[in-house]
Amino acid sequence: MPALELPADVEEALRPRRGDQFPPWQHRDDPDEGAPSPFFLPSPSFSSTVTNRLKGLSIFLYNVLIFFSLLAVFSLLSISQLPALVAFFLAKSRKRPKVNRLHMPYAEQVKALGKFLGRDLKEPQVLPLTVAEMHALLSTEDLELEAALFDYANSVTESVFGPRVSFRGIIEFSNICVKDCGYCGIRKHRQVSRYAMKKDEMVEGALWAFDHGYGSLMLQSGELPTESRQAFMVDTIKEIKRATKEKELKNGVPPEKVRGMGVAIGLGELSRQEYQELFDAGAHRYLLRIETSNPDLYARLHPSNHSWENRRRCLQDLKEIGYQVGTGIMIALPGQTFTDLANDLKFFRDIEADMIGCGPYIVQEDTPVGKAWLEKHPKEGFKELAYHNELLDLTCRFLALARITLGDVNISATTALQAINPVGREIALGRGANQLMPILTTTTYRQNYQLYAGKPCIDEGHEDCRSCLTKRVEFAGKKLHLNDWADPPSWFRRRGLTPWTASIPPTPVKIAADAIETTSM
Ligand code: 5AD
Repeated sequence: MPALELPADVEEALRPRRGDQFPPWQHRDDPDEGAPSPFFLPSPSFSSTVTNRLKGLSIFLYNVLIFFSLLAVFSLLSISQLPALVAFFLAKSRKRPKVNRLHMPYAEQVKALGKFLGRDLKEPQVLPLTVAEMHALLSTEDLELEAALFDYANSVTESVFGPRVSFRGIIEFSNICVKDCGYCGIRKHRQVSRYAMKKDEMVEGALWAFDHGYGSLMLQSGELPTESRQAFMVDTIKEIKRATKEKELKNGVPPEKVRGMGVAIGLGELSRQEYQELFDAGAHRYLLRIETSNPDLYARLHPSNHSWENRRRCLQDLKEIGYQVGTGIMIALPGQTFTDLANDLKFFRDIEADMIGCGPYIVQEDTPVGKAWLEKHPKEGFKELAYHNELLDLTCRFLALARITLGDVNISATTALQAINPVGREIALGRGANQLMPILTTTTYRQNYQLYAGKPCIDEGHEDCRSCLTKRVEFAGKKLHLNDWADPPSWFRRRGLTPWTASIPPTPVKIAADAIETTSM
C-alpha cells in the first residue's frame, strides 16, 4: 500500500505533545477484598516447576502407600465378608446423582438464581442488582449458578427480541489516531502503516450493506479532531443517507417512510458542536467506550493528557443531543478488579446507555500495557487455552449481567470474542448479546486496523463476513433479522415513544431462507 500523505492539519494533530509520555507501569496489589484480579492466572516459573515435580513425587508415594494398605486390609477379610462389602459400595454408588446438574431445567435454574439473590424471581425480568450482588455473580465459583445466570440472561434477551439477531456493518475507515491509549494497536506511538478510506469507498461499502439487507452501518476510526476530518465526515454521512434514501424510493417505499440507512459513528472524543453537526448530517447513534468506569484505572492505562472526565462529558453531550448512546469497557484489563467490573455495570445503568459493546482485553505486544501484561504472564509455561476459556466465561458473565440489569438495550457479541475462541461470538449470543458487527472495511486496509493481536477476519471480504456470520447466527440457534435499523427499544421506552416500524423494503438477499427473518412492512 503506498504511504499516505497526510494533510498539514493532520500532521499537526499527530505532533508529539506534552503529557504524551506513558506513565511507568507499577503492578499494584489487588485491593479487591481478597478476590483475585480477574486477569490474573498464575504462570509457572522455573522454581514453581521444581515445586510441582516434588509435589507429583509425593502424590505418587502416597498412592503407593494407600494401595498396599488396602491390599493388607482385603487379605485380612474372609471371603464370606466380601459380598457384603461389594453390596455396600454398589448401594453408595447408586445414590450419586446421575444427571448433569449444569443442564438442569430452566425453572430450576431460575430458582437457583433466585435463592442465591434472596429474591423470588419471576421469569424473565430486569433485576435492579446491587454492586455487591453483581460482584458475587461475576466472581462465583459455582458453575451451576453460572449456568443459571447465562440461561436467565438469554431468557431476558428473548423476551425482548425473540430469537432475532441484527447486523451492524462496520467500516473501519481510518487508523490515523491522535490518542495514545496504552493498550491499543493503532495508538499514535505505534508503528503501523496509516490509511484513510476515500468517501467513494465508504459510500460503496454502505450501499453494498444496504443491498444485502443490513439496516444499519457503523463508521469507526481512530480519533482525529481536525476541521478537514469533520467536514469529510459530515459530507460522507450526508451522502450515505442521500444514496440509501434514493434506493428506498426506487424500491417503492412511500416517501413519508423513507429514512435511509441507520448510521452509527464511533470517532472518539469530539466537541459538543462537532457531535451536533454529525447528528444534523444524519448519524443517530454514537459509540464511545468509557473503557473503565474507574478513573484511577483509566489513568493507569492512558497518558496523562487523556482525561476520563472528558470522556464522561462526551457521553453526556451525546445523550443531550439526542443520539442513541453506546458505551462499553474492556474486560480483564491489567489492574482491573471484580469491583471495577460491577461498578462498570452500574455506570451503564446510571448513564442510561442504550447500546453496550464490551469485549475481552487482548494483549497487543508492543504497547505499554501489553508489555506490562506479558511481564506478569511470560509466554513460557503460560496456559493460553485455559486463560482464554476463563476470559470467555468472565466476558459472558459480564454480558449476561448487562442484559439482566439493563433489559431492552442492544448488546454486541464483539469481534474480540472470536479472537479468544473460534465460536466466542455465538456463545455470547446465547448469553445476553443480540447483535453482530460484520466487518465491511476494504480488505486491503484490514490488517492495519488491528486494535489487538490476532484480530479475526482480516483477510476476508464483505461477502465472506456476511455468509460466515449468517451461519454463525444459525449455529447459535437464532434468527437473522434484516432490513431494519434495529434500534434499541430502551431509547423509545425512556421517551415514552413506540419504536419505528421499519421502512426499508426487504431486498432479495440470497441467504438460507430459514435463517432469516425480515421485517414485515
Ligand atoms: N484489546 C481489546 N480491545 C481493545 N480496544 C483497543 N485496544 C484493545 C485491545 N488491546 C478496544 C477499545 C476501543 C475499541 C475501539 O477497541 O475498547 O474503545
